[in-house]
Amino acid sequence: MAKLLLLHGPNLNLLGQRETDIYGDLTLEAINSAAKKQVEAANIEFRSLQSNSESQLVDTIQQAKADNVSLIVINPAAYTHTSVAIRDALLAVEIPFIEVHLSNPHRREPFRHHSYFSDIAEAVVAGFGADSYRYALDAAIKIIQKN
Ligand code: DQA
Repeated sequence: MAKLLLLHGPNLNLLGQRETDIYGDLTLEAINSAAKKQVEAANIEFRSLQSNSESQLVDTIQQAKADNVSLIVINPAAYTHTSVAIRDALLAVEIPFIEVHLSNPHRREPFRHHSYFSDIAEAVVAGFGADSYRYALDAAIKIIQKN
């Protein structure tokens, strides 16, 4: 069975309480539970992790290779704009990934305009709130089913 890994970066554990005008009212738990349903309905195994720690995200990406994960969907959150380490981990494992954001970082502060991920991602989905995950997972499922 193909496996999909959904990764959430720092502060996304606070969804539903954090800057709700930007990130919306849905909790991470609600997003994960909808994601799990969506992915499992396509007969794909679903795994997910949220971490505030860069090293845990790097370790999880490295482990994904050993676990034969087919595709990663990742919201690197603030690490989008800072993390060469997570970028290198994704390059090292050679697992295709989709970058996702709730907000559209390009409409926000200039320091959010650069991503360490977009140029190596299969695709980027941003600006649709929690629906960004739904659209990214829909695309991820199609890529997995094609391969
Ligand atoms: C985010 C955008 C990032 O700039 C920010 O640091 C986040 C969330 C988003 O989903 O819109 O934490 O990745």
